[in-house]
Amino acid sequence: MRPTQASFPATRLRRTRQSPAVRGMVRQNTLTVDDFIWPVFVRSGEGIEEPIPSMPGVVRRSVDKVVEAAREAADLGIPAICIFPYTGLEDRTEDCAGAWDPENHANRAIRAIKEAVPEIAIMTDVALDTYNINGHDGFVENGEIVNDRSVEALVKMALSQAEAGADIIGPSDMMDGRIGAIRTALEGAGHQNVMILSYAAKYASAFYGPFRDAVGASGALTGDKKTYQMDPANSDEALRLIERDLTEGADMVMVKPGLPYLDICRLVKDTFGAPTFAYQVSGEYAMIEAASANGWVDHDRVMMESLMAFKRAGCDGILTYFAPAAARLLHAGKSA
Ligand code: PBG
Repeated sequence: MRPTQASFPATRLRRTRQSPAVRGMVRQNTLTVDDFIWPVFVRSGEGIEEPIPSMPGVVRRSVDKVVEAAREAADLGIPAICIFPYTGLEDRTEDCAGAWDPENHANRAIRAIKEAVPEIAIMTDVALDTYNINGHDGFVENGEIVNDRSVEALVKMALSQAEAGADIIGPSDMMDGRIGAIRTALEGAGHQNVMILSYAAKYASAFYGPFRDAVGASGALTGDKKTYQMDPANSDEALRLIERDLTEGADMVMVKPGLPYLDICRLVKDTFGAPTFAYQVSGEYAMIEAASANGWVDHDRVMMESLMAFKRAGCDGILTYFAPAAARLLHAGKSA
C-alpha cells in the first residue's frame, strides 16, 4: 500500500522539479552507454557502406567496414554489437545452407571483429530468413512453415556462429523448442559460456518493414509470419513464451518491437526478474528519423526520450540503431 501523502499545500509535487540539481537528485532511472546493443548489417564485398533508403543514416557494410564500426562502437563504450547479414535474392536457396556456412559473411564478420576488437561482445541472429528463398524464418513445406526440421537447421546455424566466436546467440525465429535444442548443442560442443538472448516475445509486427529492406527479405517474403510470431493483441502468451525460454536455458530475454510493447517489458521484468531487453526496431527508428527530417520533432530529444522510456519500463538494455548517436550525446553530458 502506498503511504498517504499530505494534501496541498503541505505536498507540492513541483518542489522536487524546481532545478536541474534537484531533478537530477530525485531522478529514478538513468540511461547509460552500457545499456546499448548496436545492430549492424553486413554484406559481401570490400570497402562498401551502402545506404538503406528506408533507414536513413544506417548502412550495409562489407566485413572490413563492420570491423571499423565495431572499433568505433567499442571506443564509445558500447558493450555489444549485433550482426545481421544482407543476402541478395541470388544467394538465397530453399535449403538455406548458407545459414550455417562457416564462410558466410556474418561468420566472417564475427571472426574479423573478434580478432580486431576483442573487447566488444558479439551477438548474432538465428533465423533462416536472410538465407531463405521465400524470406521465412523456418523451412516452408507445402505452404507451411515447419517447426522441427527448422529447429535442426537453426541449431547448425547457432553452432557455426559459436565456432566463429560469437558471445551471444540471438534466436529470432520463434520456432518452438529451439532454445533447449541450441542450449544442448552448445553444451555438447564445449561452448558452455556462450550466452543465449532469446527473442522470446516477438510479435508479428509491421514495424519490421525497413529491416526487411535492409536484409534483402522484403522482395523475397511470401505471405506473413503470423503462424510463428505473436499476435499483437496478446500479453499472457508473452509470459508463457518467456517462461518457456528461460526454463529451456535462455540467459536473457527480449521483447520486440519496443515502444509499442512497453507494457510487455514491464510485465516480463516484474514477473521473472531475468535480464530483459527490448528491440527498438527498424520502423520505430525510421519514424523518428522521418519526423525529425521534416522538422516535426527534435531528433536528439525524441531519441533520448524514447530510449529512457525503455529503462523506465524495466528493461536492462536496448537493441537500437541509435546506439552510436545516443552514446555520443551521453558522453557530451546530454540526457533525455
Ligand atoms: C528476422 C528478424 C527480423 C528482425 C530481426 N530479426 C525481422 C522479421 O522477423 O521479419 C527485425 C528487426 C527490425 O525491424 O529492426 N529473423
